[in-house]
Amino acid sequence: MVEKIPFIMINRVSYTYPTGTLALKNITLSIDQGEMVGIMGPNGAGKTTLIRTLNGLVRPQNGIILINGENTKDKTIAQLSRTVGVIFQNPDHQLFSNTVEDEIKFSLKNIYSEKSGIQERTSAILKQFNFARYKNRSPLNLSGGEKKKLALASVVCRDPDVLIFDEPTLGQDKKEIEFFIKFIQEERDKGKTIIIITHNVEFAYDYIPRIVLMSKGSLIADGPTREILTKKELIKEASLVSPQITQFKVILEKEGIPIPKRIKTEEDLTEFLLDYLSDRKLSPGGD
Ligand SMILES: Nc1ncnc2c1ncn2[C@@H]1O[C@H](COP(=O)(O)OP(=O)(O)OP(=O)(O)O)[C@@H](O)[C@H]1O
Ligand SMILES: [Mg+2]
Repeated sequence: MVEKIPFIMINRVSYTYPTGTLALKNITLSIDQGEMVGIMGPNGAGKTTLIRTLNGLVRPQNGIILINGENTKDKTIAQLSRTVGVIFQNPDHQLFSNTVEDEIKFSLKNIYSEKSGIQERTSAILKQFNFARYKNRSPLNLSGGEKKKLALASVVCRDPDVLIFDEPTLGQDKKEIEFFIKFIQEERDKGKTIIIITHNVEFAYDYIPRIVLMSKGSLIADGPTREILTKKELIKEASLVSPQITQFKVILEKEGIPIPKRIKTEEDLTEFLLDYLSDRKLSPGGD
């Protein structure tokens, strides 16, 4: 039987910046097609450097990276951008055009050799992201949240197989986070592979099934989110700041009490637990 190669295979990858900082130390990691993986860890752990190796912005001195069986070493950044779309933390680093519409067209020009199809695809994307009415506005005049959304649209329009987000929830309000969650769930349903760098433990707990933890350039853990977030030593080592409500959810779920996603505050949790316990008392099997 031929063994299936994972869609993303990072094997013994190390990288030192020209300044001498050893940012990645012997990283080995596999991600299957359609998986959703979170990368967590303290500032300076190497998270952003690691994702930059996947779209060719960082070229590791050691190790091998295969995406869909192909060595990234042999690909240009433009070639990799058809398969891997990275949405950076700061959208200002990703927006260059004079209008919202041109931003999408510019992104598509890199992949379509002919003009045909570009206008149609641009219109569809503007509609999907509710940008149709601001298509002639300058990206500079959008709000922070809208800029993030435009940076996302300019990557998604190329329909890459892998979508990578660097701190997508940072500085976003509730409505923007809801849009993002709905968006990644739809992309996942289409079979996209999704990688999300986040410091947001609550978000990871609710939506990301697998976590890769990094610290000081090394990968220190990789496994189901619910397992990783119940390991005290790991949480400490990776300096994960977990809100109390998430800590309660982790403990209760470990005790076999499934907590619904709608529970967001301590009041919600108290109400849920009171109902849960009274139901148990009333049911014939409960004691
Ligand atoms: N362009 C660069 N030149 C030199 N050193 C860099 C560069 N970018 C990052 N580094 C260094 O490499 C290490 C890893 O940085 P990286 O940005 O990958 O961490 P991170 O986990 O993404 O941190 P954060 O959570 O703060 O975004 C750090 O020590 C950082 O100072
Ligand atoms: Mg970073």
